[in-house]
Amino acid sequence: MGAAPSKQLLSGGLFGLYVGVNLSNLLLAAASQRQQTKYINSTAVALSEVIKGITSVMSIAATEKNLKTAAAVVLQTLLKDPVELAKVAIPATLYTIQNNVIYAALSHLDAVTFQITYQLKIVASLISTRLLLGGRVSRARWASIVLLTAGVILVQLSMLNGSDAQDSSEWSKNHLVGLLGVLLACGCSGLAGAVMEALLKSKEVPISKRNLQVAAVSLLLQAVHIVTNDFSKIAADGFFQGYTPVVWSMVVLDSVGGLLVSFLLKYTTSALKNFGAPIGIIANCLVSRYVNAKAERKPVNRKFVAGTSLVLLALGMYTTSS
Ligand code: C5P
Repeated sequence: MGAAPSKQLLSGGLFGLYVGVNLSNLLLAAASQRQQTKYINSTAVALSEVIKGITSVMSIAATEKNLKTAAAVVLQTLLKDPVELAKVAIPATLYTIQNNVIYAALSHLDAVTFQITYQLKIVASLISTRLLLGGRVSRARWASIVLLTAGVILVQLSMLNGSDAQDSSEWSKNHLVGLLGVLLACGCSGLAGAVMEALLKSKEVPISKRNLQVAAVSLLLQAVHIVTNDFSKIAADGFFQGYTPVVWSMVVLDSVGGLLVSFLLKYTTSALKNFGAPIGIIANCLVSRYVNAKAERKPVNRKFVAGTSLVLLALGMYTTSS
């Protein structure tokens, strides 16, 4: 009897935290774009994996209560379980591609187009979960996903009024490359989420060990990416070029967000997790409208109200149907 409310509380708490992290990350990303010295994207992805790895080791140490056994468990998790490591290598590779491709896509697209297209990961996630994990998705849940996607598109289009319209007209010549990049990232996110959900929900390996394995494989792949792509830039100006407190905060929040994704996948579903980003986007639109220091603040328009209502309706429909 008591299990259901506490599970709901856990899901609600995780979801709320995830929305908050998404919102903060959007605000920090905007702040980092105004920086003079740019940081190297691939180093930020690598550092985020390091933080997730250290957090997972600390969590293992906390459960083992003895440093010697904890060290043995860490070694066992990373080196002596090739089958489990190979299973994790699939989502870790997909996440590494996703994490790098989104940065590249963002440099080819305006922020609004990027945010709209990136929501296709919701559809990719539902299709992947259905194909890989099976099970029936009720009509109400499919409908809620359609409403969610439409709502996010409306919210994003509402941002085209005012100053962002100018940005969006400055589409990069390469925006097709950017769009293909976002589509690739959506596919990776959907597939990785479905595989990860299955791995995390199976009771064989605890979540902290799974997260350590994901972080270790991702870090290894990211190191190869850095050496092959950004070595000369790092040799010239250092690994930490452009690292301001804003960038550091982004990296830390990105790690927190990644770990929250794993908890959401384990204790809720990838579909519920998918509502976290859209609600973060809405909160970001509201905050940027009112916190914006520019004299010309954007008013809340009809598209924004309609889009937000659709997203909230979709969330209500999703959580009350099964
Ligand atoms: O929203 P989406 O599911 O696409 O977010 C995936 C993010 O979560 C990726 O950045 C990935 O690195 C992170 N993640 C993680 N550890 C996991 C699962 C996902 O860091 N176990």
